[in-house]
Amino acid sequence: MEAATDRMPMRVLVFSASHREASLNTRLARLAIEALEATDVEVDAATMADFDCVSYDGDLEASVGIPEPAQEFARRIEGSDGFIICSPEYNSSMPGVLKNAIDWTSRLKPQPFAAAHCLLMSASPSMVGGNRSLWSLRQPLEHLGTRVHPDMFSLAQAHTAFGDDGQLANEQLGGRLRGLVTAWVDVVEATKHYPCAKARWVEFLGEHPEPVLDRVQ
Ligand SMILES: Cc1cc2nc3c(=O)[nH]c(=O)nc-3n(C[C@H](O)[C@H](O)[C@H](O)COP(=O)(O)O)c2cc1C
Repeated sequence: MEAATDRMPMRVLVFSASHREASLNTRLARLAIEALEATDVEVDAATMADFDCVSYDGDLEASVGIPEPAQEFARRIEGSDGFIICSPEYNSSMPGVLKNAIDWTSRLKPQPFAAAHCLLMSASPSMVGGNRSLWSLRQPLEHLGTRVHPDMFSLAQAHTAFGDDGQLANEQLGGRLRGLVTAWVDVVEATKHYPCAKARWVEFLGEHPEPVLDRVQ
């Protein structure tokens, strides 16, 4: 796939929701990072450990406040144009550590997931690639107002899917992954930057943008 040459400055947070050293989801996250960099996107690579919080406890929240890892999660979301999570599937759902981090982070005001852009990926040795974890993850994120991309990527039989070079052995699948990441970045870029581009175009034509009337801001 050709690299984009005219991309607006974009920054994407990427992390795998597995703590495991040899995590399949972390390997998948690396491929997502490569795909982002190939399309001129700056990457903020994080780990689940960066956002791992003590179990949610309303009394703790009232007495001590929001834990630092949740505040870090919020800062990293707010410092990015979008985020990608590569999530394992545990018992047909997302890992508890990830849900716990989302719960704590959602207690911040302003609530950082609102209107954020997100792409979901998963990897699992199973035939469905952990896809059910993504459907479970979609629920709290959409509840919080995150714009979760309709298409997702689930790597089936992930324990045999990677070559020695870390790439997907199935080149067609690798192309689909890169295509999905690029398509998502295009959507995020358009959503974030199109109003600005439209304003410039109106000014170029000699008109002055009027936010209320033209709805360009
Ligand atoms: C508690 C637990 C529950 C699991 N449940 C599922 C499951 O429902 N579906 C599935 O595809 N894999 C399941 N697995 C297997 C994981 O997909 C597999 O361990 C995977 O490698 C974890 O992701 P990671 O490699 O990124 O750490 C489960 C693993 C654990 C530890």
